[in-house]
Amino acid sequence: NTTGPMITDLNACGPSDLPAHALPPFDCCPPPSSVPPINFTFPDPSEPLRVRRRMHALSPELLANFTRAVALMKALNKSDPRSFYQQANIHCAYCTGAYRQAGHPELNIQVHNTWFFQPLHRAYLYYYERILGKLLGDPSFGLPFWNWDAPDGMPMPSAFADPGAVLFDPLRNPAHAPPRLLDMHFAGADAANRSAREQAELNLRTMYRQLVTNAARPSLFHGQPYRPGDKPNPGAGSLEIYPHNHVHYWCGDLRRKNFEDMGVYYSAGRDPILYPHHSNVDRMWEVWRALDPDRHVDFADPDWLDSSFLFYDEEARLVRVTVRDMLDISKLRYAYENVHLQWVNAKP
Ligand code: C2O
Repeated sequence: NTTGPMITDLNACGPSDLPAHALPPFDCCPPPSSVPPINFTFPDPSEPLRVRRRMHALSPELLANFTRAVALMKALNKSDPRSFYQQANIHCAYCTGAYRQAGHPELNIQVHNTWFFQPLHRAYLYYYERILGKLLGDPSFGLPFWNWDAPDGMPMPSAFADPGAVLFDPLRNPAHAPPRLLDMHFAGADAANRSAREQAELNLRTMYRQLVTNAARPSLFHGQPYRPGDKPNPGAGSLEIYPHNHVHYWCGDLRRKNFEDMGVYYSAGRDPILYPHHSNVDRMWEVWRALDPDRHVDFADPDWLDSSFLFYDEEARLVRVTVRDMLDISKLRYAYENVHLQWVNAKP
């Protein structure tokens, strides 16, 4: 039996465990920091609230802002920890075992398929959003979400599908460009003869199953405990498996061996759609808690709460973030646009 929080150490970042036929770059570790990490502090309560809105329903003005922000991020020098290149590498580092476990150098840190899935990605997006806002000079910038849990949001948002544009990624499945609806169970083959209406219905039932039926306890929703000394992949939570993982496969390019970019951990962050996808994954954490406030509660285990990860903030300072820091989005000064949840009535 192991105990204690999982602590990330920048000095323990090394080679990634990459699949065969991976595409460069092969080194995912962040740039070194000349000073030790500072501890996370909450943003000032007087900061404007960043509202995260539905990607497919953004006003032309907000869509142009988002696109411009990503273009500015892509234009930063690759050595800048805030650059798109380095932001993509963050996902690679935490998701391919580049970090070793403190005290257990033979074991790597893999945040997927564990109880860190939600808090790690929340912290990742928190800084991604703040960096984009900083580049725009807009402290109210909110990262849009891909509203795949609502029928009108199930196609890939069209802004991603314009070839050559800043949000486009050539390493995607061309058959899944809009207006085709997401298949939340996609595993490599498109279902023949399925109408958009049937697909939407199946997806709504998947949402109900994964957020209600299969998510009655914290470990069922979040994933299994993972402490120093544990082997990676103790078990994923309900939402991580469906639809999260399958959204990844659905986006990736089947002509590539590993379904790059979105279909595999090491390269998922290279596709700009990763971030609005995870904005909705993060929104589902809020939705899950609100659905059943008595039973849908987070872990109270200090090993979870005190585990910590490293990120560079919008000022390029290295920050140590604990899971405990990531539990209250109003303190993090962002919120989600309120959207009707059609799947709540899709009990199978
Ligand atoms: Cu870190 Cu969507 O995966």
